[in-house]
Amino acid sequence: MAGPHPIADPAPSDGFLPVQVLDGASTRSFHAYLHIPFCRVRCGYCDFNTYTSTELRGEKQSDFAARMLSEIAFSVKVQQQAQLPARPLASVFFGGGTPTQLPAEDLVSILGQLERSFGFAAGCEITTEANPDDVSKEYLEKLARAGFTRVSIGMQSSVPSVLATLERTHNPVNVATAVALAKSVGLQTSVDLIYGAPGETMDDWVASLESAIELETDHVSAYSLIVEPGTKMARQIKSGLLTEQDPDELADKYELAEAMLSAAGFEWYEVSNWSRGEGARSVHNLAYWRGNDWWGYGPGAHSHIGGVRWWNAKHPSTYAQKVTQGESPAVGRETLDQKTRLEERILLELRIADGISIETIKALNPDANRWISQYIATELIDAASALRGHLVLTLKGRLLADSMVRQLLT
Ligand SMILES: C[S@@+](CC[C@H](N)C(=O)[O-])C[C@H]1O[C@@H](n2cnc3c(N)ncnc32)[C@H](O)[C@@H]1O
Ligand code: SF4
Repeated sequence: MAGPHPIADPAPSDGFLPVQVLDGASTRSFHAYLHIPFCRVRCGYCDFNTYTSTELRGEKQSDFAARMLSEIAFSVKVQQQAQLPARPLASVFFGGGTPTQLPAEDLVSILGQLERSFGFAAGCEITTEANPDDVSKEYLEKLARAGFTRVSIGMQSSVPSVLATLERTHNPVNVATAVALAKSVGLQTSVDLIYGAPGETMDDWVASLESAIELETDHVSAYSLIVEPGTKMARQIKSGLLTEQDPDELADKYELAEAMLSAAGFEWYEVSNWSRGEGARSVHNLAYWRGNDWWGYGPGAHSHIGGVRWWNAKHPSTYAQKVTQGESPAVGRETLDQKTRLEERILLELRIADGISIETIKALNPDANRWISQYIATELIDAASALRGHLVLTLKGRLLADSMVRQLLT
């Protein structure tokens, strides 16, 4: 991306925040992300900050909730010292890793500490990601009773050969069971799908979409497989054992997802996310894309408050050491200047269905009009919205969003 690197700061061990965080704080919503860094096994394609039991260097999963309670108490102190206004949480998201590796009681006690510390705004969305193998009716009931509103299930595919290539160990039958159980206890549901795994055919992808649609969830995320450097899958591709899909096939699969999901009553609201109407959009994800404030708890979690961003120590044992000593677990911090903040807004907001105002783009790139006229002529953006001063991607534009961002930023 164009532009200078953000201004780098050391991350102070007392967590002290610069005065910049106060600028406009009362106009921004506040959200919490909890990173639960445990998985039973690592899937071959995934480079998330997550650890299996043999990689924990003596740290115990059973101690993890207590570490998070300490970090939440620490964050309250830091916010008070910074004189940030008290803001109730508009959303809470437990992600990972696999949050459902922890007993429901642990997730509930972390949630309780957040509620006592910040309170929840009316309609606060409270989500956990879940592995379909982990959840029983009893487990989900405990979450629903404690105030969870939503569960996001890692389905990825319904085709056994594709799941095998992805090295997913969950039983595909359990996806439907988990969704039905979640609904029966009153939780909203979402499934994650991945398309473009090596060897996945168009028929395989149709079958996965059909299975996802049959589940009648409120929300679907469909991500193009990213071959992350350093993963087992990247090595398998390098050695010729697996073959990466070509971009044209990926584009066809995206178009198919749009066609099948919209025919089934879903609407896209971000390039990789579809919901049944506005009410089922993920409040939490929209907060990231719109640049609101969030505190990220847990190993490797990132936080953002008013253009100040910091990130925690990645390994659970380093993280545990810092939080038990009453120190900030942050290991790096950056303060974004105005130009970088604008660049990030364009990068993220261009991808959402509400689009981005042309004025914002022009504040960064006064020459943007030449690209915008070209986008209208080539049907990459919606002409009527552009006349109203807003840039909204067409289906064709959604396929080219990344290169459009690069052009707009130069
Ligand atoms: C933290 S996981 C969800 C919960 C649980 N760990 C699971 O996988 O079932 C978040 C989602 O990220 C997506 N994901 C992870 N690595 C990816 C990659 N390399 N390419 C595309 N999507 C990826 C998967 O769809 C996954 O469901
Ligand atoms: S995709 Fe989910 S289950 Fe698989 S390694 Fe990544 S975080 Fe763990």
